[in-house]
Amino acid sequence: MQKEKHLELNRQWWKEGIVYQIYPRSFQDTSGNGIGDLRGIIKRLDYIKSLGVDIIWLNPVYESPNDDNGYDISDYRSIMKEFGTMADFDELLAGMKERGLRLVMDLVVNHSSDEHRWFQESRKSRANPYRDYYHWWPAEKGIPPKRWSFFDVESNAWKYDQQTDAYYLHCFSVKQPDLKWENPKLREEIYDLMRFWFDKGVDGFRMDVISFISKDTDFPKLPEKYNGEFIPFYANGPKLHDYLLEMNQKVLSQYDVMTVGEAPGVHIDEALQFVNEDRNELNMFFHFDLMSLDRETGETFMMQKEPWKLTEFKKIHSDWDGVFANKGWGSMYLNNHDFPRSVSRWGNDSKTHWYNSATMLQTFLLTMRGTPYFYYGEEIGMTNIKFETLSDYRDINTINRAETIRQQGGNLEAFIENEKDASRDNARTPMQWDSSENAGFSVENPWISVNGNCREGINVAAQEADTHSVLNYFRKMVQLRKSHLTLIYGEYQLLLPENEQVYAYTRSLEKECYLILLSFSEDRATVHFDEMSGTQAKLLISNDDANTRVDNGTFEVRPYQAMVYKLF
Ligand code: NOJ
Repeated sequence: MQKEKHLELNRQWWKEGIVYQIYPRSFQDTSGNGIGDLRGIIKRLDYIKSLGVDIIWLNPVYESPNDDNGYDISDYRSIMKEFGTMADFDELLAGMKERGLRLVMDLVVNHSSDEHRWFQESRKSRANPYRDYYHWWPAEKGIPPKRWSFFDVESNAWKYDQQTDAYYLHCFSVKQPDLKWENPKLREEIYDLMRFWFDKGVDGFRMDVISFISKDTDFPKLPEKYNGEFIPFYANGPKLHDYLLEMNQKVLSQYDVMTVGEAPGVHIDEALQFVNEDRNELNMFFHFDLMSLDRETGETFMMQKEPWKLTEFKKIHSDWDGVFANKGWGSMYLNNHDFPRSVSRWGNDSKTHWYNSATMLQTFLLTMRGTPYFYYGEEIGMTNIKFETLSDYRDINTINRAETIRQQGGNLEAFIENEKDASRDNARTPMQWDSSENAGFSVENPWISVNGNCREGINVAAQEADTHSVLNYFRKMVQLRKSHLTLIYGEYQLLLPENEQVYAYTRSLEKECYLILLSFSEDRATVHFDEMSGTQAKLLISNDDANTRVDNGTFEVRPYQAMVYKLF
């Protein structure tokens, strides 16, 4: 019986697992240089296990000159010196296996570092055997058609290289040249390095900007009417699915591993082309619809626009759930190393509402269909730091954009204001372990400032000791998901789509049904469901003491309250 159900649901460990993302630079320093390291993660493995999560996703830990904090890799098979050694890595992996934790690494293969041996060779001469590992545009063809670069001060993705009188392509920083996937030799190199990590026992990859790997190598001119919407010209290139299929056949299918692609520019209509099981490409991907909700589109993507609405938030999640209802599988996230802290962005980090907001958002991720991804510190409700001055920032994105604005005589003040809420560094401040000077992260000055609210209860030590903490709520909520298969696989149904205060939905599987009520509002709300009069409901968890069911169909919901009911 159990087996039958198993087959029917297409159960998989990566569907049932909960992911905990670690930005290693900011998690725990043990060497005393102010930078997190692998031994720091080893030291905290028991803590991670105690959360109840199953899978750790590690941001890049490979050798790198750190132009973009490890997303510029100079050697795919060695560990960044600041983070430790391969022996440390092996010990970390062994420690994880002992505790039943799985490891997902970051695979960054749209580009390498310009300090990678391949690029060093490639730029030497036009006849070099590595020339075709990158995209070169010979200068005699004239200036290459405009391509926008994320981190380039001139926003220009073509960099002239005198040595061979040619331009190379870099969609990200000038130190991140794009790899040429059109070259089969390059693809084999990548498959080989993937095998290297899988053979060590790594359980999967999160694939950086994987939607960008295939390009129209003629680099046609952008259309006249081009309005800064560059992503469609970068994502979903003509050979993308051929490459993913080949990667799956040659590597992924040979191992029991999970894959999640980062997929900017992938539209909801194209989703199943990536993750439909029958196509054998990826297991999951991260879409950007939610992350773009309160942002401008195009070249000014990181700039905020008017506040988002709960009805839009619900629609995005409901639409995406619908796509994966029968095929494929979703991934649920509210923040990561590229976006501000979830409680500050989607909740309310004021003293009054912080606790309810942080736990309500946890409840959301843990009651939706799709694998939930939590970012370190989310379990204790870490918030945006909101830096006052540019000199506080470490991120190439903020620093270089500020320089662009300065050079163009733009409004730098407005940009600094924007970054207080939008910058990536908001999410990169050190993990808050305790209330000591550097929050227990390091004995030295950290590479980026610690958020002072580590002294106001937002730290692990204080929350361990408090049964009513965000941390302990997280643990309870994790166990609730794990002990209810319906919360993982059950059908999702949105209720009250027009309500701007409360997000209400049910999850049901066979005869079991759960009602989830989540307030995204500072005000109290009353919601009514006709269909529930005559239904019994048992409250399984709430982040607020009050059980606010007024009668069978009516509920009063407090600000940022979360409730999970079992319906009979
Ligand atoms: C996406 C990563 O998440 C981000 O941190 C990085 O800067 C770019 N890709 C370039 O690798």
